[in-house]
Amino acid sequence: MSELNKIALQILSNGKGILAADESTATMTKRLDSVKVHSDENNRLLFRQTLFSSSSMSKCIGGVILYDETIRQRTTNEKSIPELIKLSGSLVGIKVDTGAKILAGSKEEKITEGLDGLRERLNDYYELGARFTKWRGVYLISDKYPSKLSISANAHALARYAALVQEAGMVPIIEPEVLMDGDHSAKDCLMKTSEVINKCFEELDLNNVDLKGTILKPNMILPGKNSGEKISSEEIAELTIDCLKNNVPSSVPGIAFLSGGQTEKEATANLNQINIKNNTNFIMTYSYGRALQQSALKFWSKDIKNIIGTQKIFDHRANMCTLAAQGKWSENLENSQ
Ligand code: 13P
Repeated sequence: MSELNKIALQILSNGKGILAADESTATMTKRLDSVKVHSDENNRLLFRQTLFSSSSMSKCIGGVILYDETIRQRTTNEKSIPELIKLSGSLVGIKVDTGAKILAGSKEEKITEGLDGLRERLNDYYELGARFTKWRGVYLISDKYPSKLSISANAHALARYAALVQEAGMVPIIEPEVLMDGDHSAKDCLMKTSEVINKCFEELDLNNVDLKGTILKPNMILPGKNSGEKISSEEIAELTIDCLKNNVPSSVPGIAFLSGGQTEKEATANLNQINIKNNTNFIMTYSYGRALQQSALKFWSKDIKNIIGTQKIFDHRANMCTLAAQGKWSENLENSQ
């Protein structure tokens, strides 16, 4: 087994998933504004160190994705954040793209940047303790989108990123996110997501990326937020599995879904059904940002000194997600807190 494959499996095995705490300062500020907490370096640290020292970390969280600011921070007890994460047996990850910018040639769409100087930044992150990374490509969806240009440009960037990350001895998370925004049907989402993922693997192959040492982080197959279409978790699971079975090479060890604006409960219930129906060899787990942190953030914002209370809420969410990653979640357990 290659070292990279071992890292990927360590992150994803035994019902563990990923805590995506890599919101950029701008995004974190939006999240903190929404609960009326001032976004400064210290408050961002306090919330995150509260989560990273929760008791569910060792059982549920195989890896934590950080933002550049956080990987360099020290806790109030003078431990480095990577040290704190490693204490629970979890691996340290880092977002390495520099964000999505307007795509020249198709100005409503975006291209993710960050390839220039990436080799040097990766060496720096490795020294800081990172063993896996994330890069997110983002795709609009409608009648005319994503365009061929956006599909091709983002796949190219994702694959060049992945090759550089493996060269630096880390596992790349490949995240092509087809957004939930819009009035498209679930069938449209299936069709367009399939095209997007397919192109990513074509480019990964061209760039000689070892797929056994990667993790795919896709969206689930869902109807657009404004479509009015109602669809069950069972149907979502079937469509999502179909999409992955038909477009992801079997050498990829695992898939860690993003939550993408689903509620905490939807993201958990849908992952649970995916695992009940999973007839592939892929590990299917979570790499959630909002669906792991939303309730904890709301609670914390009311009294940022209530560390135990905040951790209790986060622990419940992480435990529910880990049950879902094994197909063992239920509505009763959800309400048992
Ligand atoms: P959400 O789960 O909130 O979509 O975040 C996951 C993520 O890492 C987006 O890049």
